[in-house]
Amino acid sequence: MIEFKNVSKIYPNGFRAVSNLSLHVAKGEVVVLIGPSGCGKTTTMRMVNRLISVSEGEILIEGVSNQDLPPEELRRQIGYAIQQIGLFPHMTVSQNVAIVPRMLKWEDERIRRRVDELLDLVGLDPDINRDKYPRQLSGGQQQRVGVARALGADPPIMLMDEPFGAVDPITREVLQEEFLQIQQTVEKTIIFVTHDIDEAIKMGDRIAILRDGRLIQYDTPETLLEHPVDRFVRDFVGADRQLKRLGLVSVRELMDAHAPYCYMDDTVERARNVLRDAGVRSLFVVDRDDHKLRGWVNQEALAYYNSLIDAMHEALPSDIAVRERATAREALSAMIARGFRITPVVDREGRLKGSIRLEDLQTLAIFEPDEIPKTPTETASS
Ligand SMILES: Nc1ncnc2c1ncn2[C@@H]1O[C@H](COP(=O)(O)OP(=O)(O)O)[C@@H](O)[C@H]1O
Ligand SMILES: [Mg+2]
Repeated sequence: MIEFKNVSKIYPNGFRAVSNLSLHVAKGEVVVLIGPSGCGKTTTMRMVNRLISVSEGEILIEGVSNQDLPPEELRRQIGYAIQQIGLFPHMTVSQNVAIVPRMLKWEDERIRRRVDELLDLVGLDPDINRDKYPRQLSGGQQQRVGVARALGADPPIMLMDEPFGAVDPITREVLQEEFLQIQQTVEKTIIFVTHDIDEAIKMGDRIAILRDGRLIQYDTPETLLEHPVDRFVRDFVGADRQLKRLGLVSVRELMDAHAPYCYMDDTVERARNVLRDAGVRSLFVVDRDDHKLRGWVNQEALAYYNSLIDAMHEALPSDIAVRERATAREALSAMIARGFRITPVVDREGRLKGSIRLEDLQTLAIFEPDEIPKTPTETASS
């Protein structure tokens, strides 16, 4: 979809901001450019839509050099969102969002419909927001308008230069989640610039690490975390890369899907049997009808009480369980915060799906991937 072929940028003062960059971005992929300030991220991105000219090499878009595409074609194909948001203060929200469609001379009615559709998409009520001016919006709302504007003419390609850089960390996380949701429906090919490695890991299908205008490593987040090519990447990714790796694994992949449980209307005898057969010290308690998690019961209480209802601790899934779609990293912090060594895993509706142990998460966090023994026999024979 986008191909950089030996691209360099030499600024008029002779400074080489980008050196011999080759990179392929596949259709529908989010590629994150990351690196220290001044490493050439913005220069690289702006060469794609020709805001900055290429000095050597070429950039192909669907096989055609972007030198050969007329400006209106570049506008139609490539949306651009930047950190400073760049909304025009004297224009309303709808005028801002409509800029590219207007340049492309769309009919008024089509533009009106498109603006409302986009405001909806980015989570802004069109009726409330379309006639406001940028200064009447919060930073997060302005950022949403910036994204809506970049999507204006429904371009297949989006360039996003630190698009969430100007907002507070909490709003930023919300915008990231929303963006990933939107991307699932719109499926754009995206080049996304950030200097925040956590953002890169979260957003990127692949990550390109730049240093002094050179491409140092181009890999999936998993590979980057597991096999940084050199000390620079290793340091850049961070001392806690093992912990970060937990952000890539879902609880579903790690859980034990055979967590021992009993039904809320079971007899104490049956619950004791399940407990003994499983060789555990406590059981999860679920509803027989819908399999929703209702609490847990331990060995001591089962020995003491004659009815399961009396013996069990009732609890809400949101207080004791983790969702199967949560990341291992989220599960680890929830378990540490709650002081649990084992925790039930539930689906969206709160139905018991399995369990996960603190030990397993810690093992994953502490060890280098090639240090994790695969099976006992493998270890013994090596
Ligand atoms: N017009 C220019 N003339 C000379 N040098 C420039 C110009 N624009 C940017 N640079 C330099 O090129 C390097 C890369 O800049 P930039 O692409 O903006 O980096 P990043 O976005 O990674 O922070 C920096 O050292 C910057 O000072
Ligand atoms: Mg920059």
